[in-house]
Amino acid sequence: EKDLGADLESVLITKEEIDAKLAELAVKIDAEYAGKDLLLVGVLKGAVMVMADLARALSSRVTMDWMAVSSYGEGTQSSGVVRILKDLDADIKGRHVLIVEDIIDSGLTLSWLLSNLGSREPASLRVCTLLRKPDAAKVDIEVEWVGFDIPNEFVVGYGLDYAEKYRNLPFVGTLAPHVYSG
Ligand code: PRP
Ligand code: MN
Ligand code: MG
Repeated sequence: EKDLGADLESVLITKEEIDAKLAELAVKIDAEYAGKDLLLVGVLKGAVMVMADLARALSSRVTMDWMAVSSYGEGTQSSGVVRILKDLDADIKGRHVLIVEDIIDSGLTLSWLLSNLGSREPASLRVCTLLRKPDAAKVDIEVEWVGFDIPNEFVVGYGLDYAEKYRNLPFVGTLAPHVYSG
């Protein structure tokens, strides 16, 4: 068994910093959707932690749905090939939809999602992401709510995985290169 401590290089964002940021974003999101019904669309699996904590920080009445897409597989590089593993349960036509993501890396996943969901004629379609890597962007995407812009390093924790591991860490950390460089 590997020692988790040796796999992580550093803690990039603490649990306390995440909590404070989500509380801050929730106030803005509540204000934006005041008097409206909001549908949160979480992108499995990475967004589970953000979705759970953001939803509880919001005062608005929300409903939640989930989409499972995958572009990374087991590697550390985005392939750009997005697969739908699970579609939304409900029609979003006429709904106010907020996509909830853990991270925007190349932006390819979200770019694909925005055009896919956009074609279903929602009343509005916006994005909230906990993390974004400006230096990794391959496409330009308009994102309403961003928690943290981070450097272009491989990060894990708080939903983010490497080969499906580390999602349960309560903080965001950088992975030691030896873990993924073999
Ligand atoms: C990760 C992450 C985002 C996406 C961002 O998901 O959760 O959804 O990649 O990368 P991009 O901006 O380069 O497209 P992943 O495909 O690894 O699936 P997962 O959420 O199940 O881990
Ligand atoms: Mn994801
Ligand atoms: Mg992943």
